[in-house]
Amino acid sequence: MNGLRSRAICGLLVFAAFGANRAHAETGADAWLRYAALDKQAAQAYSNLPASIVVLGESPVLESAKAELIRGLRGMLGRTLRDDKSLPQESAIILGTVAALQQVVPPIPGTAGLRDDGFLLSEVKVNGFDSLIITAATDRGALYGVFALLSKIARNESISDLHEVQQPAAPIRWTNEWNNLDGSIERGYAGRSIFFDNGGVRADLTRAGEYARLLASIGINGCAINNVNANPHILEDSFLPQLTRIADVFRPWGVQLSISVDMSSPKVIGGLDTFDPADPRVAEWWQKKVDEIYRQIPDFAGFLVKADSEGRLGPATYGRTPADAANVIARALAPHHGIVFYRAFVYNHHLDWRNLKNDRARAAYDIFHPLDGRFDNNVIIQIKYGPIDFQVREPASPLFSGLEKTNEAIELQVTQEYLGQQRHLCFLPPMWKETLDFDMHAGAHPTPVKDIIAGKTFHRSLGGYVAVVNVGMDTNWLAHPLAMANLYGYGRLAWNPDLSSEQIAKEWTQLSFGNDHAVVKTISKILLASWPIYESYTGPLGAGTLTDILGSHYGPGVGSSEGNGWGQWHRADHEGVGMDRTAATGTGYVDQYRPAVAKIYESLKTTPDTLLLFFHHVPYTYVLHSGKTVIQHIYDSHYGGAEAAANLVAEWKTLEGPMDEERYAGVLKRLEYQAGHAIVWRDAVCNWFLRTSGIPDEHGRVGHYPGRVEAESMLLQSYTPFDITPPEDASGGKAVECAPPAQKCSAIFHFDGKAGWYEVDVEYFDQRNGKSEFRALVGDQVVDEWVADDNLPATKPNADSSTRRRITGLALRPGDTIRIEGTPDDEERAAVDYIEIQPDIQ
Ligand code: GCU
Repeated sequence: MNGLRSRAICGLLVFAAFGANRAHAETGADAWLRYAALDKQAAQAYSNLPASIVVLGESPVLESAKAELIRGLRGMLGRTLRDDKSLPQESAIILGTVAALQQVVPPIPGTAGLRDDGFLLSEVKVNGFDSLIITAATDRGALYGVFALLSKIARNESISDLHEVQQPAAPIRWTNEWNNLDGSIERGYAGRSIFFDNGGVRADLTRAGEYARLLASIGINGCAINNVNANPHILEDSFLPQLTRIADVFRPWGVQLSISVDMSSPKVIGGLDTFDPADPRVAEWWQKKVDEIYRQIPDFAGFLVKADSEGRLGPATYGRTPADAANVIARALAPHHGIVFYRAFVYNHHLDWRNLKNDRARAAYDIFHPLDGRFDNNVIIQIKYGPIDFQVREPASPLFSGLEKTNEAIELQVTQEYLGQQRHLCFLPPMWKETLDFDMHAGAHPTPVKDIIAGKTFHRSLGGYVAVVNVGMDTNWLAHPLAMANLYGYGRLAWNPDLSSEQIAKEWTQLSFGNDHAVVKTISKILLASWPIYESYTGPLGAGTLTDILGSHYGPGVGSSEGNGWGQWHRADHEGVGMDRTAATGTGYVDQYRPAVAKIYESLKTTPDTLLLFFHHVPYTYVLHSGKTVIQHIYDSHYGGAEAAANLVAEWKTLEGPMDEERYAGVLKRLEYQAGHAIVWRDAVCNWFLRTSGIPDEHGRVGHYPGRVEAESMLLQSYTPFDITPPEDASGGKAVECAPPAQKCSAIFHFDGKAGWYEVDVEYFDQRNGKSEFRALVGDQVVDEWVADDNLPATKPNADSSTRRRITGLALRPGDTIRIEGTPDDEERAAVDYIEIQPDIQ
């Protein structure tokens, strides 16, 4: 048998064996709830598990809990629990609230302290039989207990002698979904809304129900389903019956429904001539509206409000405060135990950038701190983790320690708006933990953000966690097969912020990919490396993500932050960079922190390098704690980051074989894209700073690209050169395009290197408004062809659309003609930036 054939047969056998173990294709739809069959040896450890389940009590949530347990154990152990109606004369899994349990079994240690959504898993003798108890103060807690037990089994954790109490860190653990009623999603990168379509609630809410199940499995208990930039029509009477349908699919999973509301609703849809929160008619309108909602949705959770921000109307229209606005709604909700999340993301986006004392970072504290104590008890101030807007690194918002008599929740973002939009890998728990663990020095003892938001520090009854998630109709929920690690990580941290990022990465990988040691180790490593990598090729030293803040928030756009009123300034000019936010010479933002924190950030000496440019304006030649100058750090980190992104591809490739093909290929494709786009980032940011500072890279890399041939320098047939704006978005500031009337264009050059094996990168522009076709030829031989049909956030050639096509294993000889042919389509002109040829070392 020849080698190739035997390998193929072997491959088939492996595939057949592997396939037999898998219930269905790994589309990612099941996320971390795959319940894949355990191997024999692992399953053996659970052979003593009871054969029967008894549920004490009846409710949709308990019904879900029972069904989930049966489903999970059937999947993992191939055993179907018997559904007993009363305690059998044998071991059983007994599921129910503490109150229900007390009726039938003797008191169990550990149950007395259970509150809210906490649960207990315990092996106990009942009627002389070893039984497994899953109990909680509430039905929802019991459901969480089921998920915790199933997770242990999926991760091959021992459950013998089990006695474990888990109590969530905070009562509020919510997601926000910025879905529009037309079915689009603001800052969503995974398809259309699972809730809305065409102005109303979708007819088929299967996915919404599945999502609620996923949320429940990580302890999420509330979800605001529509965009914070809310459409007032969601409060129309005619819309309410549609909302009840979503509440119905959430309810069995203990997820409470909430909606974002627009403060101007009493006027826009209520027929009043005002929405002044101090007007009794407005209060009455809210009360009636809320009463009606609760008549139809008795377990409705409450409202989320964005007001006086980014063009949204709010109390400022009438000279009223956020407290006036929040309270008028809160008072309508209070009789029904509903709550209001009022977002602290309130700022003026028409700031005068010429005034060096202006500072958007100050806004939340300046507005909300004076109102401390004036919010009703069912109001929660929802505070983004940093004072700007979900950047790759920000200091903790000073508002966390600025409110002592007001409930708080932290707002995180799972959807990677500024962090690569799920095309780049960026595992966020390490970043979130920086904020959660940060000591705000708001008391005699350490007061990390996680304690403040949980209500521990200032003895608040409400508070916790919110994350903007924006899952979509894409089968795997968030588009990138590894992005769900962020949703999982978010839920786990909201439940227990003391978990380490390593633990979360490992858990998620085991649940999502199985327990193969190499797979778990490699994926965990990749996840944990990804945020620092992303930071290093985007916006290091705390200057912001350095992305295009005026448009897509995706690719590099260093200049876009300056010269406008949005206030995401980094103040880079030809001498230096960074925002001076000190009290001594800057905007005074630093003084919003408690003195012990302010002291650290006020001084250049004690400010960590990672946040230097957030707090200080320094010359490019300023020497960091690391010993490098700022400018050299910028160059080095971008080169290092791009290289590290390329290494992720190599690491991932080690998993070919032990991993299912679908997800292996899906991740590989994205990591390869990311590695290419990291170079676009590297070059754009470095060239921008080289041009602005005039200081060359001491390693001579910036502006010099060995092996690179600019398209505009090739022999062009029908292609025409053009300038790219901003110039750093393309190599040399220029590219070539195949403009009408040309229907096919070519760019040609002669290879003049040594004979050998090479890899050829073609940098082209893939816009969303066309599907150009490309061919690469060596002499007459077509060596590659592809279609530029990605859906990147760009309708013109720029750093958002710049994409790399890598052609590997090409044998080139001196004098070979290399030719790139482009066929434009629609608005896309098959534009090409450059070709780069490197020896193929594989
Ligand atoms: C960001 C985001 C907006 C969003 C806003 C918010 O600025 O780009 O799309 O509306 O945050 O959080 O309200």
